[in-house]
Amino acid sequence: MARSDHPSARPFLPDKRNLKSLAEAAEGCQGCPLYKGATQVVFGEGPRDARLLLVGEAPGQQEDKSGRPFAGPAGEALDRALEEAGLDRATLYITNAVKHFKSENVDGEIRGLKPRVSEINACNPWLQAEIEEIQPRIVIALGTVAARGLVGRAITIGEAREQWMQTKWGQPLIVSFHPSASIQAPFQERRDRIFDALVYDLERARDALNEPRPQPGA
Ligand code: URA
Ligand code: SF4
Repeated sequence: MARSDHPSARPFLPDKRNLKSLAEAAEGCQGCPLYKGATQVVFGEGPRDARLLLVGEAPGQQEDKSGRPFAGPAGEALDRALEEAGLDRATLYITNAVKHFKSENVDGEIRGLKPRVSEINACNPWLQAEIEEIQPRIVIALGTVAARGLVGRAITIGEAREQWMQTKWGQPLIVSFHPSASIQAPFQERRDRIFDALVYDLERARDALNEPRPQPGA
Protein backbone atom coordinates (compact mmCIF):
# COMPACT_ATOMS: atom_id res chain seq x y z
CA MET A 1 0.00 0.00 0.00
CA ALA A 2 1.29 3.48 -0.79
CA ARG A 3 2.69 5.46 2.11
CA SER A 4 0.05 8.15 1.68
CA ASP A 5 -2.60 5.55 2.59
CA HIS A 6 -0.76 4.47 5.71
CA PRO A 7 1.48 7.31 6.83
CA SER A 8 4.12 6.48 9.40
CA ALA A 9 7.15 8.03 11.04
CA ARG A 10 8.87 4.65 10.97
CA PRO A 11 11.08 5.25 7.89
CA PHE A 12 12.47 8.37 9.59
CA LEU A 13 13.71 6.69 12.77
CA PRO A 14 17.50 6.44 13.06
CA ASP A 15 19.21 3.05 13.27
CA LYS A 16 21.35 4.10 16.20
CA ARG A 17 18.96 5.23 18.90
CA ASN A 18 19.42 7.49 21.85
CA LEU A 19 17.43 10.53 22.95
CA LYS A 20 19.69 12.89 21.03
CA SER A 21 19.69 10.94 17.75
CA LEU A 22 15.93 10.47 17.98
CA ALA A 23 15.26 14.17 18.59
CA GLU A 24 17.56 15.11 15.70
CA ALA A 25 15.97 12.62 13.32
CA ALA A 26 12.47 13.78 14.28
CA GLU A 27 13.35 17.21 12.88
CA GLY A 28 13.24 15.65 9.41
CA CYS A 29 10.10 13.58 9.89
CA GLN A 30 7.54 13.67 7.11
CA GLY A 31 5.64 10.66 8.37
CA CYS A 32 2.30 12.43 8.13
CA PRO A 33 1.16 15.76 6.68
CA LEU A 34 1.41 17.72 9.96
CA TYR A 35 5.06 18.72 9.47
CA LYS A 36 3.96 20.97 6.59
CA GLY A 37 1.96 23.39 8.72
CA ALA A 38 4.22 23.51 11.79
CA THR A 39 7.24 25.67 12.61
CA GLN A 40 9.30 22.84 14.06
CA VAL A 41 9.07 19.42 15.65
CA VAL A 42 8.51 19.38 19.40
CA PHE A 43 10.23 16.29 20.76
CA GLY A 44 10.03 15.04 24.35
CA GLU A 45 12.38 16.31 27.00
CA GLY A 46 13.66 15.12 30.32
CA PRO A 47 16.41 13.02 31.86
CA ARG A 48 17.36 9.60 30.49
CA ASP A 49 16.79 8.04 33.91
CA ALA A 50 13.28 9.51 34.44
CA ARG A 51 11.04 6.98 36.19
CA LEU A 52 7.83 8.77 35.28
CA LEU A 53 6.93 9.59 31.67
CA LEU A 54 4.08 11.99 30.90
CA VAL A 55 2.39 12.07 27.52
CA GLY A 56 0.30 15.01 26.26
CA GLU A 57 -1.64 15.43 23.05
CA ALA A 58 0.34 17.54 20.60
CA PRO A 59 2.28 20.80 20.73
CA GLY A 60 0.20 23.97 20.93
CA GLN A 61 1.05 27.34 19.46
CA GLN A 62 3.56 28.27 22.18
CA GLU A 63 5.28 24.91 21.90
CA ASP A 64 5.40 25.26 18.12
CA LYS A 65 7.27 28.55 18.60
CA SER A 66 9.60 27.46 21.40
CA GLY A 67 10.19 23.84 20.35
CA ARG A 68 9.55 22.59 23.90
CA PRO A 69 6.63 20.49 25.18
CA PHE A 70 4.15 22.03 27.61
CA ALA A 71 5.71 25.49 27.40
CA GLY A 72 2.45 27.49 27.13
CA PRO A 73 -0.76 27.80 29.18
CA ALA A 74 -1.28 24.02 29.36
CA GLY A 75 2.27 23.76 30.67
CA GLU A 76 1.57 26.33 33.36
CA ALA A 77 -1.44 24.30 34.50
CA LEU A 78 0.64 21.13 34.42
CA ASP A 79 3.40 22.81 36.46
CA ARG A 80 0.87 23.85 39.12
CA ALA A 81 -0.51 20.30 39.29
CA LEU A 82 2.99 18.81 39.51
CA GLU A 83 3.91 21.17 42.31
CA GLU A 84 0.78 20.29 44.27
CA ALA A 85 1.54 16.62 43.80
CA GLY A 86 5.11 17.07 45.02
CA LEU A 87 6.72 16.12 41.72
CA ASP A 88 9.74 17.92 40.29
CA ARG A 89 9.30 18.51 36.54
CA ALA A 90 13.06 18.31 36.04
CA THR A 91 12.99 14.63 37.03
CA LEU A 92 10.24 13.66 34.54
CA TYR A 93 10.28 12.88 30.86
CA ILE A 94 7.51 14.86 29.14
CA THR A 95 6.40 14.31 25.58
CA ASN A 96 3.36 14.28 23.30
CA ALA A 97 1.51 11.62 21.32
CA VAL A 98 1.96 13.77 18.21
CA LYS A 99 5.10 15.84 17.67
CA HIS A 100 3.97 18.57 15.28
CA PHE A 101 1.48 21.39 15.92
CA LYS A 102 -1.81 20.96 14.11
CA SER A 103 -3.72 24.14 13.43
CA GLU A 104 -6.23 25.89 11.25
CA ASN A 105 -6.37 29.53 10.24
CA VAL A 106 -9.81 31.02 10.76
CA ASP A 107 -9.97 34.60 9.49
CA GLY A 108 -6.34 35.18 10.38
CA GLU A 109 -6.61 33.58 13.80
CA ILE A 110 -4.54 30.42 14.37
CA ARG A 111 -6.39 27.72 16.26
CA GLY A 112 -5.01 24.42 17.48
CA LEU A 113 -6.73 21.24 16.28
CA LYS A 114 -6.94 17.78 17.80
CA PRO A 115 -4.86 15.28 15.85
CA ARG A 116 -6.70 12.54 13.94
CA VAL A 117 -6.30 8.87 14.70
CA SER A 118 -4.21 8.44 11.52
CA GLU A 119 -1.82 11.14 12.79
CA ILE A 120 -1.60 9.62 16.28
CA ASN A 121 -0.79 6.28 14.65
CA ALA A 122 1.71 7.79 12.22
CA CYS A 123 3.60 9.48 15.06
CA ASN A 124 3.51 6.44 17.35
CA PRO A 125 6.99 5.10 16.42
CA TRP A 126 8.56 8.20 18.02
CA LEU A 127 6.60 7.68 21.23
CA GLN A 128 7.52 4.01 21.26
CA ALA A 129 11.19 4.85 20.73
CA GLU A 130 11.13 7.40 23.58
CA ILE A 131 9.56 4.83 25.90
CA GLU A 132 12.14 2.23 24.87
CA GLU A 133 14.96 4.66 25.64
CA ILE A 134 13.60 5.90 28.98
CA GLN A 135 12.09 2.60 30.17
CA PRO A 136 9.86 4.48 32.61
CA ARG A 137 8.48 2.73 35.64
CA ILE A 138 5.11 4.47 35.19
CA VAL A 139 3.48 6.29 32.28
CA ILE A 140 0.75 8.92 32.60
CA ALA A 141 -1.56 9.76 29.71
CA LEU A 142 -2.80 13.34 29.86
CA GLY A 143 -6.10 13.11 28.01
CA THR A 144 -7.65 10.79 25.45
CA VAL A 145 -5.29 11.47 22.54
CA ALA A 146 -2.34 10.41 24.69
CA ALA A 147 -4.32 7.40 25.92
CA ARG A 148 -5.00 6.29 22.36
CA GLY A 149 -1.34 6.60 21.44
CA LEU A 150 -0.35 4.54 24.47
CA VAL A 151 -3.05 1.87 24.41
CA GLY A 152 -3.81 1.69 20.69
CA ARG A 153 -7.56 2.06 20.90
CA ALA A 154 -10.14 4.63 21.94
CA ILE A 155 -10.20 5.17 25.70
CA THR A 156 -12.56 7.38 27.66
CA ILE A 157 -11.22 8.98 30.80
CA GLY A 158 -14.34 7.81 32.66
CA GLU A 159 -13.57 4.15 31.98
CA ALA A 160 -9.87 4.46 32.67
CA ARG A 161 -9.49 6.77 35.65
CA GLU A 162 -8.73 5.48 39.12
CA GLN A 163 -7.44 2.15 37.90
CA TRP A 164 -4.17 0.92 36.54
CA MET A 165 -4.10 0.38 32.82
CA GLN A 166 -1.17 -0.85 30.75
CA THR A 167 0.53 0.68 27.74
CA LYS A 168 0.72 -1.53 24.66
CA TRP A 169 4.42 -1.91 25.48
CA GLY A 170 3.72 -3.18 28.99
CA GLN A 171 4.29 -0.26 31.36
CA PRO A 172 1.76 0.51 34.13
CA LEU A 173 -0.37 3.40 32.89
CA ILE A 174 -2.50 6.04 34.56
CA VAL A 175 -5.00 7.84 32.34
CA SER A 176 -5.86 11.31 33.58
CA PHE A 177 -7.24 14.58 32.33
CA HIS A 178 -5.36 16.91 30.05
CA PRO A 179 -4.18 20.00 31.96
CA SER A 180 -5.91 22.20 29.34
CA ALA A 181 -9.26 20.83 30.50
CA SER A 182 -8.55 22.35 33.92
CA ILE A 183 -8.37 25.81 32.33
CA GLN A 184 -10.82 25.44 29.44
CA ALA A 185 -13.79 23.47 30.78
CA PRO A 186 -16.96 25.50 31.23
CA PHE A 187 -17.71 26.48 34.85
CA GLN A 188 -15.13 27.11 37.53
CA GLU A 189 -16.40 24.20 39.60
CA ARG A 190 -15.73 21.76 36.75
CA ARG A 191 -12.29 23.24 36.13
CA ASP A 192 -11.45 22.85 39.83
CA ARG A 193 -12.65 19.25 39.86
CA ILE A 194 -10.53 18.39 36.83
CA PHE A 195 -7.47 20.05 38.35
CA ASP A 196 -7.95 18.16 41.63
CA ALA A 197 -8.38 14.88 39.75
CA LEU A 198 -5.15 15.52 37.82
CA VAL A 199 -3.28 16.25 41.06
CA TYR A 200 -4.73 13.11 42.62
CA ASP A 201 -3.56 10.99 39.66
CA LEU A 202 -0.08 12.53 39.77
CA GLU A 203 0.09 11.76 43.49
CA ARG A 204 -0.96 8.19 42.79
CA ALA A 205 1.90 7.88 40.32
CA ARG A 206 4.36 9.48 42.76
CA ASP A 207 3.35 7.07 45.54
CA ALA A 208 3.50 4.06 43.23
CA LEU A 209 7.11 4.85 42.32
CA ASN A 210 8.04 3.66 45.78
CA GLU A 211 5.89 0.54 45.77
CA PRO A 212 6.00 -2.82 43.99
CA ARG A 213 4.87 -2.77 40.36
CA PRO A 214 1.16 -1.87 40.13
CA GLN A 215 -1.08 -4.53 38.60
CA PRO A 216 -3.39 -3.52 35.72
CA GLY A 217 -7.02 -3.21 36.79
CA ALA A 218 -6.13 -2.77 40.48
N1 URA B 1 -0.84 20.53 24.96
C1 URA B 1 -0.26 19.32 24.85
O1 URA B 1 -0.92 18.31 24.83
N2 URA B 1 1.06 19.27 24.77
C2 URA B 1 1.82 20.34 24.80
O2 URA B 1 3.03 20.19 24.71
C3 URA B 1 1.19 21.59 24.92
C4 URA B 1 -0.14 21.66 24.99
FE1 SF4 C 1 6.26 12.91 11.77
FE2 SF4 C 1 4.73 12.94 13.92
FE3 SF4 C 1 5.33 15.20 12.72
FE4 SF4 C 1 3.63 13.52 11.58
S1 SF4 C 1 3.34 14.64 13.51
S2 SF4 C 1 5.36 14.56 10.57
S3 SF4 C 1 4.53 11.54 12.16
S4 SF4 C 1 6.78 13.85 13.76
